[in-house]
Amino acid sequence: MIIREVNKNDLLSVAKVQVESNRTTYKGIMPEEYLNNLSYKVIAKGWDERLFNENRKEFMYIAETDEGEIVGFVSANLERVNDLFEGEVSSIYILKEYQRKGIGKLLIKEVVLKFMENSVRNMILWTLEKNPSRLFYEHLGGKIVGERIINRGGKELQQFAYVWEDIDCLL
Ligand SMILES: CC(C)(COP(=O)(O)OP(=O)(O)OC[C@H]1O[C@@H](n2cnc3c(N)ncnc32)[C@H](O)[C@@H]1OP(=O)(O)O)[C@@H](O)C(=O)NCCC(=O)NCCS
Repeated sequence: MIIREVNKNDLLSVAKVQVESNRTTYKGIMPEEYLNNLSYKVIAKGWDERLFNENRKEFMYIAETDEGEIVGFVSANLERVNDLFEGEVSSIYILKEYQRKGIGKLLIKEVVLKFMENSVRNMILWTLEKNPSRLFYEHLGGKIVGERIINRGGKELQQFAYVWEDIDCLL
C-alpha cells in the first residue's frame, strides 16, 4: 500500500471512495435519499476548491494499491486557535473491502507527521455518535471532549469531538 499526497488528477477517485464509503458507513444513519444523491463530480469539485487554492489550509493523503487504485484518504487542517495551533482531521474514508487492514492507522500517522513538522502537538476530530468506526478513535486513545448537532438531508445527528492532547502516541 502506498500513502502519498493527493494531486488534482486523483480527485475523482477520491470522491468515489468518499461516496461509496459514506453509503456503506451511513446506511440507516443518514437519510437514504441524501446518500443516493451524493455526486462524485460535486464532491471532487469541492475538494479541488478546498485543496488547491492560494490560501490552502487543508491537506490530504491517499492510500493507493500497488495497482494504482485509490482505496482510502484522509484530510486535515492546520487550524490556528488564538495563539495556539491545533490539528483537525476533517475526514477519513476507506472502501469497505479495505477496512480493518491497518490503512487507517497509516493515514493517521502521515497526518501526525505533518502536524509535527508544523509544531502541532494536539489533534481533534468530529465523528457521529452512531458511527461504529468511532471505536477506531477510542482504540487510538482519543478522548471525547465535546458534542454538537449537525444536519444531513433534514435529519439531526449527534457528533462527538475526540481529542489527542499529545499526538506522539499515534506514531
Ligand atoms: C474508521 C476507519 C478510517 C479506520 O481505518 P481502518 O483501516 O479500518 O482501521 P485500522 O485497520 O488501521 O485499525 C487500527 C486499529 O483500530 C481498530 N479498529 C478499527 N476500526 C475499528 C472498529 N470499527 N471497531 C473497533 N476497533 C476498530 C483495529 O482493530 C486496529 O487495532 P490494532 O492496531 O490493535 O490492530 C475505516 O474503517 C473507515 O473508513 N470506516 C468507514 C468510514 C468512517 O467511518 N470514517 C470515519 C468518519 S468520522
